Amino acid sequence: MILVTGGAGFIGSHTCVALSAAGYDVLIADNFSNSSPERVDGISEITGKSIHCVRADVCDRGAMEELFSRYPVDGVIHFAGFKAVGESVAKPLEYYRNNIDSALTLCGVMSERGVRKLIFSSSATVYRADNPMPLDENALLGCTNPYGWSKLMIEQILRDLALSDPGWSIALLRYFNPIGAHESGIIGEDPSGIPNNLFPFVSRVASGEIRKLHVFGSDYPTPDGTGVRDYIHVMDLAEGHVRALGYISSFSGVEAFNLGTGKGTSVLELVRAFEKASGRPVPYVLDDRRPGDIAVCYANTGKAEEKLQWKARYGIGEMCRDGWNWEMRRRKG
Ligand code: WQD
Repeated sequence: MILVTGGAGFIGSHTCVALSAAGYDVLIADNFSNSSPERVDGISEITGKSIHCVRADVCDRGAMEELFSRYPVDGVIHFAGFKAVGESVAKPLEYYRNNIDSALTLCGVMSERGVRKLIFSSSATVYRADNPMPLDENALLGCTNPYGWSKLMIEQILRDLALSDPGWSIALLRYFNPIGAHESGIIGEDPSGIPNNLFPFVSRVASGEIRKLHVFGSDYPTPDGTGVRDYIHVMDLAEGHVRALGYISSFSGVEAFNLGTGKGTSVLELVRAFEKASGRPVPYVLDDRRPGDIAVCYANTGKAEEKLQWKARYGIGEMCRDGWNWEMRRRKG
């Protein structure tokens, strides 16, 4: 049985679908602070299987000990955590406490129970902004916000844990920009309030929920002056976790992997792709740069291709097609 903490979240729920399709028995632990139990129903609807789910805060040691005593957990994928960059700058103590405490609590209980196979949801945000592109796993590490630092600190904690006990098998998966939705449109990205990230914002402009997109910066050293990112279909990302689970079953130590497509897409290229996929206009204004943003970020995916036998399959067109399909179902409620 694979425990998926934060399994009702955007990436967690899509990963549960992929795990189930690969034949794994899945258990979700989620406190629903940034998700809803309906998302778990959606996973069951897609997979046709009932998904075990426990409402629990990973920081709650008693709850985690109870969970590990009730279920035969063989391995863990740890998604649970706060993830908004801007919010982390405003609330650093909350971010460090929640993200690091949940990792420490989880690893402490895993260690006690002799469960030492772990996949950690990390992020490309752990890479310094001045690295040459494309980014490989040996690029220089360093962050500009508490969210990123919390991810990098947890990576370090896991490296030290594995040094102390060679029984640990750990994969650190560094996500680039996950977007889109499962092709059924039953689950997808559903940020509360005004989305911070580009893709859900564009989706809601196309649906008419938001009047127009503000493009943050049109004077970057990129082909059209707007920011370039490595957008990856969330189901490709989910499959990367299935492959990583297979990899750590016969590996001991800690290994980091980039999960991206290796391709960069600008803001305006994404807007055009979304207009094409949705058949809707996405009105925008060119605005000032967003503080902290970098011009270009995309992955070298060679290591995951070689060691995980994994490569992203979907392009921007499918990401926009599936994202729009989800957006239309979301609006119907
Ligand atoms: C993408 C591009 C913006 C909104 C963040 C986190 C990262 C990861 C993914 C967790 C940039 C531009 C955006 C808007 C815009 N999250 N933009 N108008 O900042 O690359 O990465 O999400 O792991 O850690 O930092 O993603 O979607 O916010 O921005 O022009 O309204 O879209 O300037 O060029 P980002 P994003």
